Amino acid sequence: MQDTIRSTVTEQPQLKVQHLNKRYGKGCSRCTDPTFLAEEGQRCPHCGSVWACIDVNFDLYQGEILGIVGESGSGKSTLVKCLYFDDQITSGSAHIAAYKNGELDIFSESAQQKRYIRNHLLGMIYQNPWLGLKMSFSSGGNIAEKLIASGSYHVGSIRARATELLEHVEIPISRINEQPKNFSGGMQQRVQISKALANNPPILLLDEVTTGLDLSVQARVLDLIRNIQRQFNVGMILVSHDLGVIRMLADRTMVMKGGRVIEQGLTDQILEDPQHAYTQKLVHSLLS
Ligand SMILES: Nc1ncnc2c1ncn2[C@@H]1O[C@H](COP(=O)(O)OP(=O)(O)OP(=O)(O)O)[C@@H](O)[C@H]1O
Ligand SMILES: [Mg+2]
Ligand SMILES: [Zn+2]
Repeated sequence: MQDTIRSTVTEQPQLKVQHLNKRYGKGCSRCTDPTFLAEEGQRCPHCGSVWACIDVNFDLYQGEILGIVGESGSGKSTLVKCLYFDDQITSGSAHIAAYKNGELDIFSESAQQKRYIRNHLLGMIYQNPWLGLKMSFSSGGNIAEKLIASGSYHVGSIRARATELLEHVEIPISRINEQPKNFSGGMQQRVQISKALANNPPILLLDEVTTGLDLSVQARVLDLIRNIQRQFNVGMILVSHDLGVIRMLADRTMVMKGGRVIEQGLTDQILEDPQHAYTQKLVHSLLS
């Protein structure tokens, strides 16, 4: 019985994104279908709007890490921001298996339902911890905020959960009442991770979590991410411009360029046999 349930769950993607387009700017009659833009182009030559994501399609399965790699401006952050409802999409759809059985497009839901999805089903870790944390709250307070948003009100259990989460990311409990603005970059990212995990979401979005950290600190955060994947069986979208990070963690990888997904597949396959010229260049520079 258990196995049947598990196999049904794993067959259906946890998240399915289809034809996602995101335009910054007003748009014009000539760019209503952005696929007309030249392969490299994101800016409409007629109205100057930027198409940050163009016809993005992918699935995320339970418990897997999907890496997104691509050069600066290729639309990686925009994609995760759209999924977390920080930015509004221009068109497209996304279905989450844990939300009404994956039957409804989350982008078409009401603001209230979107808040529910964000608070209960998603966790986000921003590249910039100032976006993900309230620096004037204590680290425990940051976790409490997320727990309260997802419907926990009991002070004792909130405190117990915050303690457990901080322990998990190896933040000394003695610092639970301290503001994360006094923490190092690596510690701030670990507080963000604990906050994102607070509501046990099936999907985590991680945008350049280790960018800008010292190599040894990076390694600890990457280790933590791997442990979380093993323990919590959560599906993760891991954005990085660093193919080395992607190689270490991602089961499957999606390569973005100019707002488009130019290649996707098993990470090993992409590293061994990159198809697109841009991916070949990326892989060669990693290996050389
Ligand atoms: N709020 C905004 N208003 C206008 N244009 C934007 C906005 N946010 C992003 N863009 C544009 O959208 C495109 C994609 O940006 P995005 O931040 O998603 O790229 P990225 O792949 O995350 O890059 P990086 O690796 O530098 O973080 C870029 O051309 C960027 O200038
Ligand atoms: Mg980015
Ligand atoms: Zn246009």
